[in-house]
Formats: sequence, structure tokens, C-alpha cells
Amino acid sequence: MRRAGKERTASRGGPPGGAVAGPVLRAVGLSRAYGEDASLVWAVDGVDLDIPAGQTLAVTGPSGCGKSTLLQLLGGLDRPSEGEVWLGGRRVDGLGERALARLRRRSVGFVFQAYHLMDELTAVENVELPALLAGSAPRTARRRAAGLLDQVGLAARARHRPAELSGGQRQRVAIARALVNSPLVVLADEPTGNLDSAATHDVLRLFAELRSAGQTLVMVTHDERVAATADRVVSLRDGTLADDIRLDGGPRLPEGAGADHGAASPLGALLDWED
Ligand SMILES: Nc1ncnc2c1ncn2[C@@H]1O[C@H](COP(=O)(O)OP(=O)(O)OP(=O)(O)O)[C@@H](O)[C@H]1O
Ligand SMILES: [Mg+2]
Repeated sequence: MRRAGKERTASRGGPPGGAVAGPVLRAVGLSRAYGEDASLVWAVDGVDLDIPAGQTLAVTGPSGCGKSTLLQLLGGLDRPSEGEVWLGGRRVDGLGERALARLRRRSVGFVFQAYHLMDELTAVENVELPALLAGSAPRTARRRAAGLLDQVGLAARARHRPAELSGGQRQRVAIARALVNSPLVVLADEPTGNLDSAATHDVLRLFAELRSAGQTLVMVTHDERVAATADRVVSLRDGTLADDIRLDGGPRLPEGAGADHGAASPLGALLDWED
């Protein structure tokens, strides 16, 4: 342990009965070091962050400032060297491997710059996979996956493999997959980083729909136009929070967004999914 003066402990425990009070996602003194001795790097260095339910948060900052590391810590893909992560009112940074895997599957939806779809599976098979892994009945999972693909404007591409889809279509499949288990939070790392401006508009349109439906979303982005669609923008410098700015509320749809799928297709009904 180092820097005893920076240690903090969360003052609030998880509420009884599973109800989420307070922030959906919370970081307390969150830090992650890589390497040791002369090569030691604090990629994330004492970040305190409360993300309330329904907020769209953009994380920005120069390359290497710790954005991806922070997102991975928040989603349980990596473990902190110091500090705490709370998800849905529950402290999760100390969970065992199995519990952490279960948490990632059920409570977090990840979207990556490079999509990370399974090449040998069709779009609908990619989307339903996390539902099947979470124990959903095959017919239920397929119905849910098909409904989400419809919502992201890809019903006609359900049986296509990723290689047969454009980058924007692949990312929409990845977003549908992230939503299939109705996660508490969607975490997206440069979700438009590989996309042209038309496909970026489509993804932002979907995020605006998610926001209208009350989905909590954290997205890492270099793109100011993408960050400008958020409720709040935090910037990192050398692993620490340098800025925390609230933007004006209200859903903002980028101009010309979502031209190839219906405007009247709120994802809200599909977010409340029960078996
Ligand atoms: N596995 C690792 N081993 C060692 N150092 C690492 C590792 N992953 C990240 N780092 C270092 O941690 C710091 C933060 O990296 P991170 O990938 O979080 O940055 P980033 O803000 O996402 O950058 P970019 O915008 O380029 O994606 C960098 O200095 C990086 O070199
Ligand atoms: Mg990164």
C-alpha cells in the first residue's frame, strides 16, 4: 500500500433487498498500477466517481491517460491495485473469479472499438450468446436477440456473419449483444472509433434511444462530437480526473442520425426483460 493519506472507504453499503439506491456505478480511490520499480505506471490513480442511474457519461483525455483501464476496472474486466468499485449498490472489486464473471455477464454490457463479435456465429447467434450463457432458455434467448436486432435496424441481417456486415452494422450487433441481459450499465470503449460518420450517427442514435429509455451508459471517446451527446463529460490526465463537466440535459440526436432504421423504435420496452 502507498499514500495512506489518499485511502478512502465508501461510506455507504449496499441497500437491503437489492434495490439500487445512490449511484449505479461508483469508484472510490480507484487505482491500477502496471509494472514495478522503475517501470511502475499508475494507469488510473485515485479516481472518485459516482455515476447515477440513467446518466450518459463520456470519458475523454489524451492517449495513454487511463481511459480504457478505468472502463475495465469499472466493468470487472480488471482488478484495481487500490480502491473500490461499487455496482448496483454492491461492492464488487473483491469478488471471486466466478462471481465476477457472473456479474460481468448479467450486469454489464460491453461495447468495444473492434466489435469483438464471434466470426463463426451469425448476428442473431452473437446477440443471443450472453443470454444463453446466463441460463436463458434457447427460444427465449432467440426471441430476445431477434427483437434487439430489429430495434437496432438489422432484422434483415440476423443470419449474416460479421464478415458479411459493414463496420457500422457490426457495431450495432455488438450493441444489441451488450443489451441482451438488460445490464445495469453499458460500458463502451471508443464505440465509434472505427466508424465513418454515417455509421457514427447510427450508433449515436441508438445511444440516444438508450438514454431515453433510462439506460446508464459510460463511453470512452476521443471524438468531441460523440462526447457532446453525453449528459456529463469527465476527462482524465495521467490517470486522474482533470475535469467533470455537466452538459445541458435532454436527449440530443445527431443530425441525420439513424436514417436506415425506424425513428419510432424506442429500445425501452426491450430493456425491461424478464424470462
Ligand atoms: N497491460 C499493461 N501493461 C503495462 N502498462 C499498461 C497496460 N495497459 C495499459 N498500460 C499503460 O497504462 C496507461 C493507460 O493505458 P490505457 O490503455 O488505459 O490508456 P487510454 O487512455 O485508453 O489510451 P488510448 O486513448 O490510446 O486508448 C498507459 O501508459 C499504458 O501504457
Ligand atoms: Mg484506450
